[in-house]
Amino acid sequence: MDLSDKILKLKREKKAVILAHNYQRPEIQDIADYIGDSIELSRMAAQEKDAEMIVFSAVDFMAESAAILNPKKKVLLPCLGARCPMAQMLTVDEIERAKKEHPGVPVVLYVNTLAICKAHCDVCCTSANAVEVIESLDADTVLFGPDRNLAEYVSEKTGKKLIPIPENGFCPTHLLFQPEDVAVLKIPHPHAVVMVHPECSSEMRKVADFVGSTSKMCRFAKESSAKEFIVATEEGLLHRLRLENPEKKFFLAYEGAVCPNMKRTTLEDLYASLKDEKYVVRVPDAVAKKARGSLERMFQV
Ligand code: 13P
Ligand code: SF4
Repeated sequence: MDLSDKILKLKREKKAVILAHNYQRPEIQDIADYIGDSIELSRMAAQEKDAEMIVFSAVDFMAESAAILNPKKKVLLPCLGARCPMAQMLTVDEIERAKKEHPGVPVVLYVNTLAICKAHCDVCCTSANAVEVIESLDADTVLFGPDRNLAEYVSEKTGKKLIPIPENGFCPTHLLFQPEDVAVLKIPHPHAVVMVHPECSSEMRKVADFVGSTSKMCRFAKESSAKEFIVATEEGLLHRLRLENPEKKFFLAYEGAVCPNMKRTTLEDLYASLKDEKYVVRVPDAVAKKARGSLERMFQV
């Protein structure tokens, strides 16, 4: 029996469900019960009733959101070191400082934040629904963090003023994409459609045919009549895109676009996580209660 089979056997014995983000290693995506973007996985975790535990193969803030939304379930993060650096860029002090400087201005936080920060905002959003969340607010100016690029993209789409908190939060992986790389790929593939994640720079958005979250890219690629795509997001998504569209071709816009945090979790970690029921994600009740409010307001939108 190979390791994947052992994991599947243990998963059945323990009545566990495995959720994996679109950026996880291909061998993890292949055995997951559900693969998705951050909002889809949050929703799955919130709705999970039958499983005894949820193994969340992704990074820290995603597993934290699952624990917040389904507090009675045991949520496991298989690799403790899997942390999103962008989520670490925003602190409660920074939020409180911005609130003092801009009294009465609503605070919207990307889900790529720590639970304690979510407890200090009005509503959360993901890259899949940020435009709708901002549009739903009865305000023309909004404090938004931590991703400055997503803030700029949403501001362009909604015409509202988004004040970034902190001033320059970013995803180190998505910042690696350069329009020059797209131009080079376009030479042999002139008809390729360019899909760009909103965490990329504004220069990348300018060369995009489509801007959207990872799952929106999957939907777009499926529905498009194009045969070739240049993809500007973390390389893990290409595994899913290729499986779902075997007749189409996908090219990563920059080969080095690998999120080391998303790739930390291995099959060995997954097996150990199920076997020893580690690492249990714990969010203090008072923080979870407030953060849940911010996440649930996002689901209402
Ligand atoms: P998605 O919500 O598009 O899955 O993005 C999450 C993320 O971490 C992007 O880097
Ligand atoms: Fe965080 Fe960027 Fe990795 Fe997504 S790709 S988990 S935003 S570092």
